[in-house]
Amino acid sequence: MRELRFAANWKMHIGPDEARAYLRAFRARYDRREDRDVWFFPPAVSLEAAAQAVRERLDLSVGAQDIYWEPKGAFTGAISAPLAAQAGAKATLIGHSERRHVFGESDEDTRKKTVAALAYRLAPVLCVGETLAEREAGHTVAVVKRQLTAALGSLDAARLAQITIAYEPVWAIGTGRNATPRDAASVHCEIRSWLTTRGAARARVLYGGSVSLKNIAELLAEPELDGVLVGGASLDPEGWAELVQIGGA
Ligand code: 13P
Repeated sequence: MRELRFAANWKMHIGPDEARAYLRAFRARYDRREDRDVWFFPPAVSLEAAAQAVRERLDLSVGAQDIYWEPKGAFTGAISAPLAAQAGAKATLIGHSERRHVFGESDEDTRKKTVAALAYRLAPVLCVGETLAEREAGHTVAVVKRQLTAALGSLDAARLAQITIAYEPVWAIGTGRNATPRDAASVHCEIRSWLTTRGAARARVLYGGSVSLKNIAELLAEPELDGVLVGGASLDPEGWAELVQIGGA
C-alpha cells in the first residue's frame, strides 16, 4: 500500500485559540484513513494547544517549524528540540526556504539541527530546493544534492531512514506557480537515488510549493511523491481536510 504524508506548515499564522478551533473543525471533517498521516506545523506558541487537540488521533501529529541545536541556554527567541518535545512536538521542519533565505540559515546549521532533532526523538523534515536563478542556470540537482549532503551526509542508513525530505523549489513557494508534476518527480528521483545509495531508499520524499485543491490530484498521480508539504492551502481546516481526503485518492 502506498503511504502518503500530508504536512501543513502554518508559518506565522494561527494562535493557540485558533489552533484549537481549527483542529476541532478538521477532526470533524476528516476521518482517519489507513494509507495516510497528517502532520501540522504550527507556530511555536501554538504547539502545545495543537498537540493537545490531536492527542487522541494517532494519524495526526504536531511538529515545530524550526529548532535551535543547543538543548538549553541563553538563546533569546529560540526553542530547542527538548522544549518542542515537551510542548508535544513529534517532528520538526529543518532548513525551510524561509529560514534559509529570510533568516540566513546555512547548510551547516541544518546539519546541527538534524543531529539535535534525532537526539531528542523529533522526526526531522529536511527542506531542500533551488532558487529561480539556480534553476535557470541548470543547477537544480547540484543545489539539492549539496543541501542533502551537508545536512545528512554523516548519518548512517538507520538514521537516514527516519528523515522526511521535502523538496520545495523556492520559486514555487507562495507564488501560485507550482513545479509541473513531471519536473517535481524528476527531482524526487534524484533525491531517491541519493538516499538509495546510502541505504535509505524508504525515507519519505514530499513535494511543496503552491500545492492546492486544484493541483493535488495531478501531483500525487506521480508515484515518486510520498506526500506534500503545504502552506497557504493548509490554513483553512475545511479546505485542508478535503485536500487530505482526495489527495492520491
Ligand atoms: P505554499 O503552499 O503557500 O506555497 O507554501 C509552501 C511551503 O513553504 C510549505 O512549507
